[in-house]
Amino acid sequence: MLYCVLLCMNIILTVPCKCFLIWYSPAIQEKRVATVQCLSGTGSLRVGAEFLAKHYHQYFTPDQWEQIRQLMTSKALLPFFDSAYQGFASGNLDADAQSIRMFVADGGECLAAQSYAKNMGLYGERVGALSIVT
Ligand SMILES: Cc1ncc(COP(=O)(O)O)c(C=O)c1O
Repeated sequence: MLYCVLLCMNIILTVPCKCFLIWYSPAIQEKRVATVQCLSGTGSLRVGAEFLAKHYHQYFTPDQWEQIRQLMTSKALLPFFDSAYQGFASGNLDADAQSIRMFVADGGECLAAQSYAKNMGLYGERVGALSIVT
């Protein structure tokens, strides 16, 4: 039984990357692909989003946000904000929303995912919202 599980895990973890890439892809040959089993597509998206949030998250100053906004606008990129703990960064709800408001102020479009699971006195209630601004 253990062997079967190990064999299945091996198949589960090697087939997907060889399916969207190809076995002789340089990325596979050079061992630059890491694959984890996830709970279907939604679970995969969640794990990917957590990876991005953990490794690429950084705080920007308002000036830097303005540069990012101008760059994204010039390249017609659609921003997708991931906002959690609003109010916890600066101690001020409005200040922590400044970047999103900056993008929307000049008619910009965006998506904004918000978690209220750890603020607004809703600790642990898993309250969230997705807003799409057109
Ligand atoms: C930036 C960011 N986005 C999303 C989440 C996930 O929010 P939730 O725990 O409400 O699912 C977190 C959680 O810590 C987070 O820090």
